[in-house]
Amino acid sequence: MAETKDKLRVGLIGCGGISGSHLPHLSTSEDVELVAFCDVIVERAQKHADKYGGQVFDDAAKMLGAVELDAAYILIPTYAHGAPERACVAAGVPFLVEKPLGIDPDDLRKLAQEVEASGLITCAGFMNRYRDSVNRVKGILQEDPAILVDGAWVGSPPLVKEGDYFAKNPIGQWWPIKEKSGGQFVEQVIHTVDLARYLGGEVTEVFAYGARGFNQKLPNIIPNYNLDDAMVVSMKYAHGGVANLMSCCAARAGGGGVFLNVWASGHTARFTEWAHHVKIHTAGEKEAEEIKGDIADIFPKEDRAFIDAVKSGDRSTIKCTHADGARSTLLALAANESLETGKPVQVRY
Ligand SMILES: NC(=O)c1ccc[n+]([C@@H]2O[C@H](COP(=O)([O-])OP(=O)(O)OC[C@H]3O[C@@H](n4cnc5c(N)ncnc54)[C@H](O)[C@@H]3O)[C@@H](O)[C@H]2O)c1
Repeated sequence: MAETKDKLRVGLIGCGGISGSHLPHLSTSEDVELVAFCDVIVERAQKHADKYGGQVFDDAAKMLGAVELDAAYILIPTYAHGAPERACVAAGVPFLVEKPLGIDPDDLRKLAQEVEASGLITCAGFMNRYRDSVNRVKGILQEDPAILVDGAWVGSPPLVKEGDYFAKNPIGQWWPIKEKSGGQFVEQVIHTVDLARYLGGEVTEVFAYGARGFNQKLPNIIPNYNLDDAMVVSMKYAHGGVANLMSCCAARAGGGGVFLNVWASGHTARFTEWAHHVKIHTAGEKEAEEIKGDIADIFPKEDRAFIDAVKSGDRSTIKCTHADGARSTLLALAANESLETGKPVQVRY
């Protein structure tokens, strides 16, 4: 059993950008040993192995067959989910998987059932659930439910331009292609979608409008870009509340960044920026309560929750399982379905 070991043997599947957010904590944790790295572009796995030690693979199933692991990190693009998770299930290895959890709703529903049936400890990478600001508001909303939620993630277009995030990182090769990433709403605004569920409760129906063709007029838009430049997605909660979430990747003069507002009968919570700083207003009180969001320590918090759960077998530290994260992903994918059909969509989990 893992709890008898001094160190958990951990392997990474996917060695791109987001591995750089997990590795600083994993590599300095006394109870973690990085023993294997896998990437379909094997040079990326080799680069990590050169720095941290461990074996190198180009395929998750091969890695899980060859190396005894206590836990795996699945850090791959939206389109690549399925096989790595199934390899972990076959090998009986607990895993943390980055969001979103898939791109094909039918396969994701099936995968979530397979993972649940395996009984494995899993963690979906919705790190905002570990923020004090978010959990303070969640506590308030248990007693005073959300009536209206609105949120957005507004940024600039992916450009072929020196210094542009998408031009200089591997994510630029798949993010701008809707069939690969699912689009900005699924790939990025999924964090806000997940918070809308975590704070507000389960969503039953969505309706989406999209804006297209604006970014494609830009002379230096990244090749193969075919995303919705913006989306507006209305949602109905099972408890009767409503939400409106928006994405935009077309704001070159400065976006609105990340925000999320929650209005309940006696409380208003206003989250701002990626860190989700919050101001909480209470009816009848003059001063708002302010909580700063964590910045540098949010990925370590999430990693620690997962590693501790695997070590102890106590899953209560994990705030989002694969099954729960799959529901947030299915909700975001339902918005794409509404966009395609032009109709409201009942969300199937
Ligand atoms: N939690 C967050 O805030 C956050 C931030 C950034 C990215 N992410 C998520 O992390 C995931 C990866 O993003 P990224 O920025 O690291 O992308 P990336 O393109 O930089 O890296 C992904 C890596 O996975 C590799 N890969 C693809 N298919 C694979 C497979 N089947 N097996 C093994 N390796 C495979 C690619 O070669 C690439 O090196 C995405 O889903 C993204 O949404 C999360």
